[in-house]
Amino acid sequence: MSWTAVLCFAWTLFTFTPSTTSSPLSAGFCSIEEQHVLSCSNSSLTAKSCCTETPGGLMILAQMYSWEPALGPGDTWLMHGLWNDYCNGSYPADCDPKRAYTDIPNLLSSHHQKPLIKAMAKSWKNDPPITGVNGTSPDLWAHEWSKHGTCMSTLSPACYPHYAPKLEAVDYFKTAFQLYLTLPTHDYLSDCGIVPSASATYDLADIQSCLVYATEALPRVGCDKNGTLNELWYVYHLRGRVPHGRFEGTDSPTKSNCPAHGVKYLPKARAKTGSKEAGSKL
Ligand SMILES: *[C@@H]1O[C@H](CO)[C@@H](O)[C@H](O)[C@H]1NC(C)=O
Ligand SMILES: *[C@@H]1O[C@H](CO)[C@@H](O)[C@H](O)[C@H]1NC(C)=O
Ligand SMILES: *[C@@H]1O[C@H](CO)[C@@H](O)[C@H](O)[C@H]1NC(C)=O
Ligand SMILES: *[C@@H]1O[C@H](CO)[C@@H](O)[C@H](O)[C@H]1NC(C)=O
Repeated sequence: MSWTAVLCFAWTLFTFTPSTTSSPLSAGFCSIEEQHVLSCSNSSLTAKSCCTETPGGLMILAQMYSWEPALGPGDTWLMHGLWNDYCNGSYPADCDPKRAYTDIPNLLSSHHQKPLIKAMAKSWKNDPPITGVNGTSPDLWAHEWSKHGTCMSTLSPACYPHYAPKLEAVDYFKTAFQLYLTLPTHDYLSDCGIVPSASATYDLADIQSCLVYATEALPRVGCDKNGTLNELWYVYHLRGRVPHGRFEGTDSPTKSNCPAHGVKYLPKARAKTGSKEAGSKL
């Protein structure tokens, strides 16, 4: 696949006001040229790690679909996390235990990000069988930050000319969630006639070509052991830093684990009595 999807971000939904604490001007300045280096390209090999994601330049926006119990609004897919794999497909994890921040809601609200917390609470819910993380949604957020966010080179505190404590984690959650919002998986699939159904099944190739049509790159389509659709990994290279960078879609190097035929996409099982949702407590 030679085309790539270029997603430009309008940073209008969430605003933030950095605190006035500042550290001396440091390695944080990136020239225009440095902000245009694409991760995993040849020129990333010699790029500044504050300006280009390196060595982990393969960015993955992971979504999940939770039908039992039904999680999230309507038929939407949930946010799972933003990861940065190495360009060769293996990945770093838990890169800086000193910055494994907990209590993400408090961290975000102290940086004036209440609207972001509210939006995350709706669509970034923990589904333990898929995420492998026991606990609440904020536990999942803390896990995604410490396992993956601390590995992002452009989010190193040294990359901020005006660093305020934990500011890089705010940038992680803003960027991750904004990117998630550009990917309405349910709508992509339903536009191709691929809708949740208790009886219909689908060919993997049809799901894949539908998503290539929608995003101009092939994501990794994931199924559980029963051949039921439950995960999607949208893959990108990143031009510039995680905050304000440009995510350019690329084909997933990881193959689908779904069967070629008979893929199930189940309707969310909702409790008949009222609108109480499992796992919704913050
Ligand atoms: C990147 O470097 C490799 C090895 O030096 C070379 O074979 C390849 O053509 C280069 N790719 C581009 C796009 O310049
Ligand atoms: C993949 O790349 C990373 C970072 O460059 C390196 O540390 C690791 O050894 C590589 N793994 C393989 C299997 O080549
Ligand atoms: C999650 O909780 C279950 C049941 O309490 C336990 O068996 C499992 O080991 C826990 N997993 C992790 C990753 O902590
Ligand atoms: C697979 O299907 C079996 C039988 O319907 C069910 O008991 C099991 O929970 C399912 N597994 C998953 C991962 O959904």
